[in-house]
Amino acid sequence: MATTATQEARQARDYVRVYNPPAIDGNFVGKHIITVDQFTSADLQIIFDAAASLKKRSRQNDRGLVEVCSGRVMATLFYEASTRTDMSFQTAMRRLGGEVVAASNGVQFSSVYKGENLADTVRAAGCYADVIVLRHPDVGSTYEAAYYLDMLSSKIGRQPVIISGGDGVGEHPTQALLDMFTIIDFKKSLDNLTITMVGDLKHGRTVHSLAKLIARLQGNNVTVNFVAPPSLMMPPDIIQRMRDKGVSVNETDNLSDVLSDSDVIYWTRVQEERFADRAEYEAIKDGFVITPPVLEPAKPDAILMHPLPRKHEMGTPDDHDLLDADSRSVYFQLMENGMFVRMALLTKVLRGVYV
Ligand code: NCD
Repeated sequence: MATTATQEARQARDYVRVYNPPAIDGNFVGKHIITVDQFTSADLQIIFDAAASLKKRSRQNDRGLVEVCSGRVMATLFYEASTRTDMSFQTAMRRLGGEVVAASNGVQFSSVYKGENLADTVRAAGCYADVIVLRHPDVGSTYEAAYYLDMLSSKIGRQPVIISGGDGVGEHPTQALLDMFTIIDFKKSLDNLTITMVGDLKHGRTVHSLAKLIARLQGNNVTVNFVAPPSLMMPPDIIQRMRDKGVSVNETDNLSDVLSDSDVIYWTRVQEERFADRAEYEAIKDGFVITPPVLEPAKPDAILMHPLPRKHEMGTPDDHDLLDADSRSVYFQLMENGMFVRMALLTKVLRGVYV
């Protein structure tokens, strides 16, 4: 089996075909977290309940939290820039009493600088740590990492776990978990919601994972509007999957058609680093900019989300300040929830305990 897979897979993307991420089915311990497809609705509920409980206990400064992952070590391998994913995972682990390691000067000054490949670097981290958070520019990199960590486990007699922090334009499963946790926190359920995702839906891994998760949860009477220029539209396979699961999907490049009906507005950055052609980016980058007057017609109880970082797609710094002051803007709460959801995931993957 192993020989076949490595012979077939020479690029990270090939591992999506040859490596099958384990279904969670109520048991998270030792399972890699690679795609939202691993979660059933019941699995999501376990994470959301744990995140809500950990949020409450953190707010109460519950000293028992530091016992939860005491003695465990998390390694971070970030081959791409990150603020929130990196720092929220680190703080999550520390708040649970675990330790965090990273290459002293960043992954680019690890042996990666000497040309070491992902399979070897990730196994080095696996020899030292119990869980590894990986962000990498290649789609499929987390599948590849999981494949090699499973091989490593037979050598060292324990299973280091990989958690995806985003694989290029592929998925960002933990972001989708925290996005959904926040939606349900504010809206109580997915039923009867109209969710509008705007911006770079082609390259945005957060919206890929969130759209797949909405399909998975199968709420009643859910409408999803994808608002993007045709060249940045959501991949057709994801749209098809949503329709197959009964989600009503609209594709448009006209925000005003759908904004005032939206309960959740999910804004995104045009992913500049993913464009091969600079001119194409320049031509498209100002297509969807949210400013206070643009938000004005939205429902009073709508929520405005953004995975961040933000740039000009939220206007000027003055616009940022005005938008931030709007009670509909929930991206700060979203960021904080990210830490609690990641605490929940680390707890479940490393310990499996009820928290
Ligand atoms: C996003 C990412 O890296 O995919 N950020 C995040 O993790 N919160 C979104 C982005 O970079 O635009």
